[in-house]
Amino acid sequence: MQKQIHLVSFLINSPINHTVLSWADQKDNRVKALGDLQLWQDLARTLERGKFDGIFFADTPGVFDRYKERVDEAVRYGVCWPSHDPVVLLSALAAATTHLGLATTMSTSAYQPWTIVRQLSTVDYLSGGRAGWNIVTGHLRNEHRALGLEQLDHDRRYDRADEYMEVCYKLWSSIGEDAIRADKEAGIFADPEKVQLVQHEGEFFRCNTVGPVLPSPQGRPVLFQAGSSGRGQQFALQHADVVFAIEPNLAGMKRYVTGLNAAAAELGVKAPGVTFGIQPIIGGTEEEAKARLDALIERMPLDGALARLCGTMGVDFSTYDLDRPLQEVETQASRGLMKAFTAVLGDRPFTLREVAIKWGLSVGMPQLVGSPEQVADQMETIWRESGCHGFNMTPHIMPSSVEDFVDQVVPILQKRGIYRNEYEGTTFRENLGL
Ligand SMILES: Cc1cc2nc3c(=O)[nH]c(=O)nc-3n(C[C@H](O)[C@H](O)[C@H](O)COP(=O)(O)O)c2cc1C
Repeated sequence: MQKQIHLVSFLINSPINHTVLSWADQKDNRVKALGDLQLWQDLARTLERGKFDGIFFADTPGVFDRYKERVDEAVRYGVCWPSHDPVVLLSALAAATTHLGLATTMSTSAYQPWTIVRQLSTVDYLSGGRAGWNIVTGHLRNEHRALGLEQLDHDRRYDRADEYMEVCYKLWSSIGEDAIRADKEAGIFADPEKVQLVQHEGEFFRCNTVGPVLPSPQGRPVLFQAGSSGRGQQFALQHADVVFAIEPNLAGMKRYVTGLNAAAAELGVKAPGVTFGIQPIIGGTEEEAKARLDALIERMPLDGALARLCGTMGVDFSTYDLDRPLQEVETQASRGLMKAFTAVLGDRPFTLREVAIKWGLSVGMPQLVGSPEQVADQMETIWRESGCHGFNMTPHIMPSSVEDFVDQVVPILQKRGIYRNEYEGTTFRENLGL
């Protein structure tokens, strides 16, 4: 079968996805959707009509509180605040769809391994094997403040996450294949011989129990990972089925895939598929698309964008000169993103203002602006030249950006034979081609 582009829709259960103040657009329905399951279910059905592999929720529990060391800008502009729980949504979306993958981010700092296995495997089992987990270690300082926890240093969080995954794997493999009998005549539910007790005593975790949820048709949820520092990649190569990355342009994307493949070869492991974040801005014509982008920029408050940027980077940039090149600053938050956006990938480095605007618009995900044909061209070029598996697409205006893409760009990709006409399988793993 010919290789195909894989697509995941990248959302947040908050007033915005990744565009500051998108909720204020006259057409946007997100503020309403926060309290309306029907709107979320309609969106999931639209994605399924567009044959997306899955829906994927980013999640940063807590609030952005780094900019000026306060929460005011995040609260004032609704920058990912309130942060409603995405896991709760997934089962409602499972009920409205039959093929769409259902992935969410859950932080290893905010939940115990048993809790994540229980919640996500329940979604996985209920949906016939369609769940996915984006494993993050909790780069956001306020996540820890919200929970009253000490934030471990960057690399230490990954060490802890390695042990975390060990516990998860044990829980996932605790229930043997033919353990469940559900024999009504005999009154026997399961064979205890085939259900293994997990007895984990490690540096960070203790767990003594049996697996809490039945294995789904895909066994366990698909694992995503988005750390892109050296330590983050090491973690990804050990655990991830798919790596999700943000690179500002094609040069960065090529460099990322080449680096990951080389690191995988060195470790002797299979390289995970890479999906790059993108934000299509579609118009009937190129001019119309550009006008839509201009409207997003015009509406965006720079201090709202800085609140988002400072939160992710873990640095208060409020005293920095906006028009100087952004230089790499030591951080305990996202080192991967800090590196990607301070590297010189074009003819000069980005200034802080430029990075803040990129962050406010799309958290640095490149915007593919143009007519449906032009957007399809850009996607095909990136996909062919970078060797990526596919894309995480962040829509700006809800739900029209998704509808425009599904109705106008998907048919072009299908016609070119680089995107599916029908789902290949029933589980998320099968459809992702893993
Ligand atoms: C594309 C992308 C998406 C991410 N999504 C989330 C998220 O939803 N929640 C979160 O807490 N961290 C998120 N992160 C942060 C990373 O998972 C990671 O914890 C952080 O970047 C620090 O690791 P690193 O220095 O190895 O990149 C994301 C990072 C990237 C690159």
